Amino acid sequence: MSNNKHLWWQTGVIYQIYPRSFMDSNGDGIGDLNGVIERLDYLSETLGVDVVWLSPIYPSPMHDFGYDISDYRGIHPMFGTMEDFGHLLAETHKRGMKLLLDLVPNHTSDEHPWFIESRSRRDNPKRDWYIWRDPAPGGGVPNNWLSHFGGPAWTFDEKTGQYYLHQFVKQQPDLNYRNPEVLAAMLEVMHFWLDKGVDGFRVDVISKMSKDPLFRDEPPDPAWNGIRPYLSLQHIYTSNMEDVHPLIHEMRKVLDSYDDRMMVGEIYLPNTDLVKYYGTPEKRECHLPFNFQLIAAPWDAAGVRKMVDDYEAALPADAWPNWVLGNHDRHRLATRVTPVQACVANMMLLTLRGTPTCYYGDELGMENVPIPLEYVQDPPAVNQPEIAHIVGRDPERTPMQWDASPNAGFSAPSVKRLWLPLAANYKTVNVESQLKDKKSFLNFFIKLMDYRKTSPALKIGGYRSFDPKSEGAQKNCFVYERRAEREHLLVALNFSGQEQKVELPLSGKGKVLISTTMDRIGDINLAEFTLQPNEGCLIFL
Ligand code: GLC
Ligand code: CA
Repeated sequence: MSNNKHLWWQTGVIYQIYPRSFMDSNGDGIGDLNGVIERLDYLSETLGVDVVWLSPIYPSPMHDFGYDISDYRGIHPMFGTMEDFGHLLAETHKRGMKLLLDLVPNHTSDEHPWFIESRSRRDNPKRDWYIWRDPAPGGGVPNNWLSHFGGPAWTFDEKTGQYYLHQFVKQQPDLNYRNPEVLAAMLEVMHFWLDKGVDGFRVDVISKMSKDPLFRDEPPDPAWNGIRPYLSLQHIYTSNMEDVHPLIHEMRKVLDSYDDRMMVGEIYLPNTDLVKYYGTPEKRECHLPFNFQLIAAPWDAAGVRKMVDDYEAALPADAWPNWVLGNHDRHRLATRVTPVQACVANMMLLTLRGTPTCYYGDELGMENVPIPLEYVQDPPAVNQPEIAHIVGRDPERTPMQWDASPNAGFSAPSVKRLWLPLAANYKTVNVESQLKDKKSFLNFFIKLMDYRKTSPALKIGGYRSFDPKSEGAQKNCFVYERRAEREHLLVALNFSGQEQKVELPLSGKGKVLISTTMDRIGDINLAEFTLQPNEGCLIFL
């Protein structure tokens, strides 16, 4: 990749909005498109993000909160109208930002007209658009495949006497990509939104679109810890099948037939498999296959360093890296690593090589919110109450904390009930209060975003991590450089709550540009310096 021709999705910062939870403009306690429009200046001017990704906004019975789509070409009335969407797209572009939509090709809602037809009769032309199987010879499910959200991946349809496949809730039947009409229909959906001017897609569970044509049982996973039933099997016949790649290449060709569009695929796989989703120079696939390693990483400096180095080493020559710290499926960053370390983590996210994706609220240090029983609504939690605290995703989807007023500026103060409860800490952890506090989490984030904007080293520079100069030094630190032609930066991150000595094979002085503690300025000796507890520093060499 030559240094002077980087594209918006390489140098920009992606910000994920969970639309139900960002901003409610009409007082029903649920976020909506006009709400997002009201807050666009926050994204473009206050934070300076470049790309907005919206989780699904389409018509949906909401069994999986929008990931069960009943019309790929509409807007759920709860979120607004197509006109509102046009307005949102125009306002986003007016501010120089790009807009990505969530594309969910693996499954539809069971209320999608395609599925209604498919289940109506065995000889319906759409029967084969979904995956229907006879019961096993002795009766019961066709094989041992499991749903992510608990129970078997098969549901019996009384009327037609067969089972259909669903890798998520039973209201999310999987489409059958062995029927070419299905891919053609999904490519048409892509055209529909690209023609309207959207800049691309985040593609849901892209690696699961193809399944074993022989429907073989999946083998048990000997490493299973006995907690989450879905993980008791190795998903070698429902995920990452070799023949998913040509499907993705066809999707890529649609994007390439427009100017400057992109897709980022949702893929949880180890590096060797993950990088295959970039495709090859002849057959391109995702512009970015999401790299989720930091979301699952134990928070220790040596482990994280190895993870970053290994990923860098695994990337094909022209593949652009990317990093993610949070999303709507995983516990909040600040809860996983502690609020003080979340600042260090954000510094890492915004200074590693590659495109960062930030989940709404992580710029404030929002934490998981304990959900009272009567509010629990995420299907994996509802279906598996005994492990709800592990698999439930409501805690990381709570309303954005804008200010200290009742309902946190998310809904009008008079609104009685929000779709999920607010965090107890919203009176202090909110945008307005943090903007006023010079040393706040948010102001740190903004300062770093500001620096990133004009920094060639951070946006396109090379990456190299450092070994300590002597045994024991910086045991709990991760130190790396970013280097471009005219700028050389050092990032030093202390993953611990204790002061740490850093010893580097460097000499001379460096100038601290930004510290997570927001109170350090001036020069340091590069050969040896000290990081405060939970401190990360960006240093100019
Ligand atoms: C993806 C989404 C998740 C959803 C699932 C089924 O993993 O991120 O929220 O439940 O796909 O669509
Ligand atoms: Ca609303």
